[in-house]
Amino acid sequence: MEPHDRIAKLRRLIQQADTLYYNEGRAELEDSEYDALFRELRELEESHPDLATADSPTQRVGAALPTGTGFETAEHLEPMLSIDSLTSESQVKEFADRARKLLEIEEGGSLEWTVEPKLDGVSASLFYENGELVRGLSRGDGTRGEVITRNLRTIRNIPLVLDKEASPPPRIEVRGEVILSRTSFHQLREQTETTTDTPFRNARNAAAGSLKLLNPREVARRRLEFICWGVGHLDEFGPKTYAELHSALKGFGFCMADPFEVLDSTEALIAFHDQLEARRSEIEYEMDGIVAKVNRLDYQQRLGRTARAPRWLLAHKFAPRRARTQVLAIKAQVGRTGAITPVAELAPVELAGVTVQRATLHNWGLLAERDVREGDEVEIERAGDVIPAVVKVYADVRGSGSRPFAAPNSCPTCDGGLTPEGAFLYCVNLQCPDQLKGRIVHMAGRRTLNLDRLGPKYVDQLMEAGLLTNLEDVFLLPQHREEILGLERWGEKSYDRLCAEIDKALRPTLARFVYALGIRHVGEQTAKDLATHFGSLGNLCGANEEQLIGVDGVGPEVAHSVVKFFASDGNLRFLSASAKAGLKVREEEPSTSVGGPLAGRIFCFTGSLEQLSRDGARKIAESMGAATASSITKKVTDVVIGKAAGNKAEKAHKLGLNVLDEASFLSLVEQGK
Ligand code: IVH
Repeated sequence: MEPHDRIAKLRRLIQQADTLYYNEGRAELEDSEYDALFRELRELEESHPDLATADSPTQRVGAALPTGTGFETAEHLEPMLSIDSLTSESQVKEFADRARKLLEIEEGGSLEWTVEPKLDGVSASLFYENGELVRGLSRGDGTRGEVITRNLRTIRNIPLVLDKEASPPPRIEVRGEVILSRTSFHQLREQTETTTDTPFRNARNAAAGSLKLLNPREVARRRLEFICWGVGHLDEFGPKTYAELHSALKGFGFCMADPFEVLDSTEALIAFHDQLEARRSEIEYEMDGIVAKVNRLDYQQRLGRTARAPRWLLAHKFAPRRARTQVLAIKAQVGRTGAITPVAELAPVELAGVTVQRATLHNWGLLAERDVREGDEVEIERAGDVIPAVVKVYADVRGSGSRPFAAPNSCPTCDGGLTPEGAFLYCVNLQCPDQLKGRIVHMAGRRTLNLDRLGPKYVDQLMEAGLLTNLEDVFLLPQHREEILGLERWGEKSYDRLCAEIDKALRPTLARFVYALGIRHVGEQTAKDLATHFGSLGNLCGANEEQLIGVDGVGPEVAHSVVKFFASDGNLRFLSASAKAGLKVREEEPSTSVGGPLAGRIFCFTGSLEQLSRDGARKIAESMGAATASSITKKVTDVVIGKAAGNKAEKAHKLGLNVLDEASFLSLVEQGK
């Protein structure tokens, strides 16, 4: 291909990828593929300067701003640039050597770098004026971003006001990555898995999608976090190094990228990269590499930048987590909720240190849309610790005997009937052995009732032996000593251990027990939220949808599912049988703290507040010892009324409650400090 045509093609490919990545939060190219295309384009342009153009992707950051998304746009004070991504040690050495040369550092003289993880999230810029958060922007095209202040304000670890004692500058643009921790991502997946046709592929996708939601309340439920990695514009300010700036930002109240170190050789940068890569899956956040920054800010100034990226920082990426393999078979798997999902059995393949043999195909709708077939060559991706997913099909290398895969007509386990719900199929037979097995295994899990001895293999065995025919049988296992001892791989010791574990499991905390119930859409965090709010199983069982929606972190879908769960005869039978077997769920400690200037008062926030988010206000009140309530009742002592609060003020007055506006609440907070 002529250079001219190749350049045009590369630009088109990169632009398409940019649009998907920045505007829709999706990535169809693996980072390393993207980087390779980018490098090729840059090299071609360098060797054919006549073909370089100002609108080439090498000359700007990000993608053209999307239109019609419902958000206004505004200009960044300092552009949000990109980073030069490097994938090999030699590239890192070359980059660092160039920096040393430009800074005229002699052989033997050292250059300090700070290192931190490169977080795989969505970047955002927060503008603070006189210590107050006044605007939050997405990165957009690097020059202008979308105004997503309302969504960003719902992120709990973003300070709405900077700590004054740390003397923040009058105007500062704080930058960082909006991410979802593994735990929150799993929770979101649990809630959306069986309701959304296109599941979030990874935490980054989910974070990007969440920031684009038009309903901030919904955003708040997603438990996003903001991890700061630097600044844009900064008024006169003291730090001389990035490390000093880093601690200043911490002092203002930001959560900083961690681990963070100052190193003084290229070898140490590479060692940090390797160590972090090895620990990658233990860390709560998705990372795709490390970022190294020249520590001295005057050096950063001297190094300056290219059109796209600064010359004082580099990203050293981790190895990609995609691989190509073959689909040996497609199987239908029955989950604990009865959802039947397609799973691909694969020719074993190495993927970032583990051998992968199975990948999820999510649901039948997606399977049909992507037309994955038995025998297909596919690309799979492992994002974090979620099950690998098939992300691409090489349809052009299919054999002639290849046929589309059809969804089953009956449950592959019990042959029972199926009902479709959106792109999903459900087995309607509550006695379906696979559903029961899934529920038992979930209930016995480490994060639920922690019955170590009841792993999937043993559950299979005990079910086959007829000792587990329903969920409550778990608590009755100790009564079957003889039968259990007669089974393979069981002896006195393991039987005694099981009994001890069950004994312990009969006194679970409310949060663990609620999670153990396996209520659809109720993940670990939601279970905790429900437990702290309701305090006892009795209260939770009796709650209606409206009361449930009043709980922080609970939406209509979760509320509906909880009510439905406790309305089912089968579930009620399980609860009473378990109680008979000796189950006593521990009640939660009340969530209010004992002391504090607002102790003994119960606040209700209603209507939209201007300076604080409602969640933020609630948190402040709680941190000062108050309790909070989500609706106005006689128990409430103080009602803080925002805009558009309807007839709430009237109701509060009628009940004789203390009514405040946001400003009086804030001055109450000030006095209490
Ligand atoms: S410093 C000039 N540090 O990666 C840009 N960026 O691929 C300075 N990112 O736009 C960026 N973790 O959104 C920096 N520890 C970190 C980062 C980080 C993630 C993002 C950031 C940047 C993108 C470039």
